[in-house]
Amino acid sequence: MFASKLPQVGTTIFTKMSALAQQYDAINLAQGFPNFDIDPLLQNCLVDAALTTSHQYAPMQGLLDLRLQIASLIAKQYNRSIDPDEVLITAGATQGIFTSIQAFVHSGEEVIILDPSYDCYEAPVLLSGARPIRIPLAEDFRPNWKKIRESITPNTRMLITNNPHNPSGTIWDNSDFEQLESVMLDFPNLLLLSDEVYEYIAFENTHQSIHQRELIRERSIIISSFGKTFHITGWKMGYLVCAPQLMKEIQKVHQFLVFSVNSVAQKALTSYLDQVEIRDLANFYRQKRDFFREGMRESRFTLLPAQGSYFQVASYSAISDEPDTDFCIRLTKEHGVATIPLSVFNANGEDRKLIRFCYAKTKETLETAIERLCKI
Ligand SMILES: Cc1ncc(COP(=O)(O)O)c(C=O)c1O
Repeated sequence: MFASKLPQVGTTIFTKMSALAQQYDAINLAQGFPNFDIDPLLQNCLVDAALTTSHQYAPMQGLLDLRLQIASLIAKQYNRSIDPDEVLITAGATQGIFTSIQAFVHSGEEVIILDPSYDCYEAPVLLSGARPIRIPLAEDFRPNWKKIRESITPNTRMLITNNPHNPSGTIWDNSDFEQLESVMLDFPNLLLLSDEVYEYIAFENTHQSIHQRELIRERSIIISSFGKTFHITGWKMGYLVCAPQLMKEIQKVHQFLVFSVNSVAQKALTSYLDQVEIRDLANFYRQKRDFFREGMRESRFTLLPAQGSYFQVASYSAISDEPDTDFCIRLTKEHGVATIPLSVFNANGEDRKLIRFCYAKTKETLETAIERLCKI
């Protein structure tokens, strides 16, 4: 009767592991969402907004006041001056990513995705009739620029990057940006989709943004998520920033995909941004990361460096040599802690016996998880 447009796509591992966690009453360190309360100030902003805001359609690009707040945040954080018309409010980063890919990627073109990669890049590429080219990151999860350069053909439309990186928690250094600039200058038709949803969760190495890269930012779409920044993943609110000539095309898709985004949430975020100090976020998560790493020192897991995002990758090769997905299922069923196997982020299924913990959880949750994990 019909042919699937995405025959190879099934239920995501996040849904599967969360369901398994529930079934076995396990602690869910799998899916990347915080389990603590949001800032009461933001709650109040939401209540006020619900009482005072129009509940009808917001403007297509998003409320001007919210876009002005975002422009001043970018000026403060990255010293880049932008016009509010270079900002589009989206229903989470996911919609920003989907919309950007649909706007620019034609059937038969290629999009480079760096593995292990978050799972919302490939499907929109396939739906555009384009070909995802999955290039492995280097051993330390930084981009392999030689391989990226070699994979670019006249058909390559877009490069998707993610920094700070999910799942590894790696942060790029200066040389990565220099190499990226050099690639983009050598291939003038290449667009960059820079997923920076964890931009404010960076620890020892400060996060550098494409906002700061004058040479390439005019050809880049920068993706952000209020969900990640303010622990409100359920609100599905985010934004993207790009130059006017790109924005014109993106808005053509956006207006028919969602037209505009939740007006009350936009109003609440507008007043919250006026009052909150975003820089405190990194410290908040640094404490969680340090608490988790300290506790896990007693375990048989080997923890990899965790420089940003709210994920900790660990090797279990001292415990077992079973495939990572089997290990994660067993960990959930027998030890009551749900995690994510890294192989699912790789198109080639490469399994380095690594799993991902999300430490965006309360101290009590982390304590119980650590106790269970240290017994293995
Ligand atoms: C790297 C990355 N990009 C995008 C998203 C999606 O963000 P949002 O919930 O704002 O759509 C996530 C969520 O986990 C993510 O980890």
